Amino acid sequence: MERELVTLTGFILSLQQNVDEATGDFSILVNAIGLACKAVSTAVRKAGILNLYGMEGSVNVQGEEVKKLDIIAHDNFVSALRLCTKAGILVSEEVEEPIILGKGKYCVCFDPLDGSSNIDCNVSTGSIVAIYKRENPDAEPTIQDALRPGKDLEAALYCMYGSSTQMVLTFGTSVHLFTLDPSVGEFILTSRDMQIPSPGKKIFSCNEGNTKNFDDAVKTLVARFKEESYSARYVGSMVSDLHRTLLYNGVFMYPAAPKPKLRLLYEANPMSLIIENAGGVSVAGKGKRILDIVPTEIHERVPIFVGGKRDLAIVEEELAKLE
Ligand code: AHG
Ligand code: MN
Ligand code: MN
Ligand code: MN
Repeated sequence: MERELVTLTGFILSLQQNVDEATGDFSILVNAIGLACKAVSTAVRKAGILNLYGMEGSVNVQGEEVKKLDIIAHDNFVSALRLCTKAGILVSEEVEEPIILGKGKYCVCFDPLDGSSNIDCNVSTGSIVAIYKRENPDAEPTIQDALRPGKDLEAALYCMYGSSTQMVLTFGTSVHLFTLDPSVGEFILTSRDMQIPSPGKKIFSCNEGNTKNFDDAVKTLVARFKEESYSARYVGSMVSDLHRTLLYNGVFMYPAAPKPKLRLLYEANPMSLIIENAGGVSVAGKGKRILDIVPTEIHERVPIFVGGKRDLAIVEEELAKLE
């Protein structure tokens, strides 16, 4: 049976050729991000052999002990994005201030290695990327290029380093899945125009270890999912929990417990854009769409309830009861 071999770059170029003002810049940018993801995938898979597990020794702006692979991943993204010259400013989880690269027309916010607490025990991790087109590409880049609501994003993607390395990319309104074929070193299109399945599976995903710090509405919400015989699934890396939600349906929650943990610019926003474009919903609380939030700081954190329409309707219902 003939296999349709569409690469990430080929796919984007084919879509862009119908766009008059397409310059190829977006394709060059995404190709550079794909290269960084391939390099991180290789580092993750060889970490045990190259002694790349464990702590790097510093504490980052998040107050987290930095893993060696957090820094390796960060460096790969910065290098690929600098060399492609299409990004004027970067925001990385691992660096306090934005990184100014020059006049590139895009602003790229990224979590170079997501779920890094899982890396030393070989549980799946990922990288998450949010891409804005800068409103004034001729001006010097400033932090304002990044302090924009997620609904302004040009594109978002994540790459999951799981049993295979897979990239989910959304631009425009569609969501596409690419699987890395290591034998040719290319991301190959394996699913296009993805939608969260309905009815799909009844799954709720949250860290119940935080239950004592959940507010009453969230405690009631979790009890209701259990009452309605939902399965509990929690990997502890957002990329893995969200990828399962995209493919199976369900709801992922990281409520304030008592403070929010997930970062708006490079975790909640890009994942919310992907899930909304796949037919789902993503809120920070009742009626508070994540993509409408105007950021005030580049590392700000938000509570998040994200997943398929059916389960987010239950979230809204329960959060409303105790308002
Ligand atoms: P990161 O590794 O980029 O710092 O992100 C970790 C995040 C996210 O991946 C995951 O959903 C969440 O932390 C898990 O937090 P808990 O360990 O508190 O459940
Ligand atoms: Mn981290
Ligand atoms: Mn993360
Ligand atoms: Mn991270």
